[in-house]
Amino acid sequence: MSKQPLSPQETAKKHAAEAAIPFIEKGSIVGVGTGSTVNYFIDALAAIKFDLEGAVSSSDESTRRLKALGIPVYDLNGVPEISVYVDGADEINRHLQMIKGGGGALTREKIVAAVAKRFICIADKSKFTKQLGDFPLPIEVIPMARSYVARELVKLGGDPVYREGFVTDNGNIILDVHHLDILKPIAFEEILNNITGVVTNGLFAARPADIALLSDGSSIET
Ligand code: 5RP
Repeated sequence: MSKQPLSPQETAKKHAAEAAIPFIEKGSIVGVGTGSTVNYFIDALAAIKFDLEGAVSSSDESTRRLKALGIPVYDLNGVPEISVYVDGADEINRHLQMIKGGGGALTREKIVAAVAKRFICIADKSKFTKQLGDFPLPIEVIPMARSYVARELVKLGGDPVYREGFVTDNGNIILDVHHLDILKPIAFEEILNNITGVVTNGLFAARPADIALLSDGSSIET
């Protein structure tokens, strides 16, 4: 059976993902994010897998895909340094601050990003925005705190929606917060972190990306 051609958006994701390959250092352990764009990146890693020591992964799904290609996946606790972390985004602004967590892997993504020297964001150009917040902000929450955290989010002007039937790799739930006016992303990220019961919020502002590779399918904007 012949393969269906990729849609323009999928072509752009694949193009952005492949553009990250030259940033990977020989013999290094690469940090790998989660999502459909990262899946193209994992596929592209196959071609250089013998030049890699291995990977640290941000989700069970990415781990499964990496291992299926024969790429060793290490526990972050045993890895002192990650030179490059590659991940997608749901939204990214001109300061390279992002909303992430559409796939629910935000906590592990934030941890690997914190360790990495360089965070390379790969995305199709539609993810670029002037102001973060059109995409509902994912927040990972300890299950018993769900209602309390939701009430606190309403006080902050948001409209939290429980992601039905979804459990994170860490055993927690996700609230997707709609209608937020995120004017000061760094300050707002901290406010959200201070709500008891919040594990991680999907604002990646205090630690933004270092490089963004945004593709329209034929050219890359950095
Ligand atoms: C997963 C993420 C992803 O990076 C984000 O959702 C973008 O995904 P995609 O590449 O499928 O558009 O944060 O938790």
